[in-house]
Amino acid sequence: MAAARGEFSSRLGFIMAAAGSAVGLGNIWGFPTQAASNGGAAFLLVYLFLAFTLAYPALMAELIIGRHAHANAVSALRLISPNRLLRGLGACTGIVGFIVASLILSFYAIVAGWMIAFCLSAFSTLLGLGNINAWLTEFGFSRNLSFMLLFMCLTIGIISGGVREGIERWSERLMPMLLVSLVLLVIYVLTLDGAMEGLKIYLLPDFERALSPKLIISALGAAFFSLSLGVGTMLIYGSYIKDEENLPVVGSLVTLVDISIAVLAGFLVLPAMYVALHNGVEIFTPAGQLISEDTLIFTVLPELFATMGLAGTVVSFVFFFLMSIAALTSSISMLEVPVAYVIEEHGVQRKAAVWVIGGLIALVSVVILLNFSALFGLVVAFTTRYSQPLLGFMFCIYAGWIWHRDQLLGELRKGNPDVEDTLFWKIWPWYVRVICPVIILAIFAQSLWG
Ligand code: TRP
Repeated sequence: MAAARGEFSSRLGFIMAAAGSAVGLGNIWGFPTQAASNGGAAFLLVYLFLAFTLAYPALMAELIIGRHAHANAVSALRLISPNRLLRGLGACTGIVGFIVASLILSFYAIVAGWMIAFCLSAFSTLLGLGNINAWLTEFGFSRNLSFMLLFMCLTIGIISGGVREGIERWSERLMPMLLVSLVLLVIYVLTLDGAMEGLKIYLLPDFERALSPKLIISALGAAFFSLSLGVGTMLIYGSYIKDEENLPVVGSLVTLVDISIAVLAGFLVLPAMYVALHNGVEIFTPAGQLISEDTLIFTVLPELFATMGLAGTVVSFVFFFLMSIAALTSSISMLEVPVAYVIEEHGVQRKAAVWVIGGLIALVSVVILLNFSALFGLVVAFTTRYSQPLLGFMFCIYAGWIWHRDQLLGELRKGNPDVEDTLFWKIWPWYVRVICPVIILAIFAQSLWG
């Protein structure tokens, strides 16, 4: 088993891959719109605070356990457990994690497929192919199915290459493209009329709204989703890090990249909405709230691009291209969770494992597509609102209470012999023991009864 295991070749490779996993639709789509409707800059501050004080410690728990075990979540949690009962519980947690990761991928692939379809619609617009354009941009089974399958094939193709040739190589190619297209879009949109209005909304804090308990909890949920926590994604990426690497440092770099991209996307999406308003597109709901979520991405923005002529077509292409890349570097990290488990626990070949599991997940996506209104929202809520926080809680309990502290310290010392004298070691163990579990339970309680 150990001999066949992959490993990231460099620190940069790991950071690109882990940041690629973290940066996804959650950052470019979720964060900016939530900030817009929840007090602008104040939400931003709350989000920043929570990401560093709570999501970062939870990320570290997964990375350290993963690197120590050099194995998938099931074996890793078993390995650090002192007795049979806890070993069983650890294995269950890992298995639930890989099921949840697969379910997240099953809905993520559908949404990502839409992004590709909208990206291609730039060409049908240019060529004046009205029918094809309508098929690409309107909700319909054949379009949804085709692009979901295309996206799954891309994900499967990358993951079948393994850690270095697949995940690392493609993250290193795609992440710079993502960054460049995002920066170009931000610069361009900021030059348009109306953009400054949106910038003001984004940057002027409205503390009254940002400090409501409900909002704080939803910001934390967003931070957990954004850092891909809870399902073992970061644990498995951590298991591919070299022993010499200083984990607290690489973990904080990944957090920093993830947050910066979310913040940067805010500079794109909010100004773009007010440019749309300036061009006569409706951006408020009848209740006076800013339009958000899917309506924003698939209605407001395309309408905005349509008012901008040729430039709009180019911008539309770049925007949806950016979304597709962000989705792809995230989806590969979801598929790697069940794939690593099957390879390591059952000795299956990587190629076979990837195609079989990818095929099964695509099948689940088809079932969701066939019962879209009943299942889509349900799967999203079940995985992201309920399962992720609970699984994140379990990882913190294993890192904070169950794993022997000396072993944990030993693991951290591998990459930093003086880690005991660092601020990280003074604060983190206590955080992951007490603060993280308590707050995660609070989110969970809120999502159950809130
Ligand atoms: N973090 C990604 C985003 O922001 C999504 C993601 C990737 C994810 N891997 C995950 C979410 C694992 C939950 C669990 O879009």
